[in-house]
Amino acid sequence: MPWIDIGLASDFPQGRGVAVVADGRRLAVFNADGQLYAVDDLCPHRRFPLNDGIVQGSTVRCRTHGSCFKVDTGELVRGPAGRGIGAYAVKLEETRVLVAMPD
Ligand code: FES
Repeated sequence: MPWIDIGLASDFPQGRGVAVVADGRRLAVFNADGQLYAVDDLCPHRRFPLNDGIVQGSTVRCRTHGSCFKVDTGELVRGPAGRGIGAYAVKLEETRVLVAMPD
């Protein structure tokens, strides 16, 4: 499983999401209380972006129709999406942020 460099830790401010592309896959990266999480950026309901969703604790809520996902597992908590989203391990190496992408 390759680790992909997605930027500096300072690129991911607390309490909001940032869209990145890692290994050709569009991700939303969230800083929730200092912990970084990476999930698929497109909501499975109508494919609106999740990176501008509302972060509440360990969840992100899609602004469009309100589907809510856990940022650590991608699990759907509630809403019309019908399924969860991919979630990817994130680690820090000094000041760099790396995300694990599937082979
Ligand atoms: S597009 Fe996200 S809930 Fe509809």
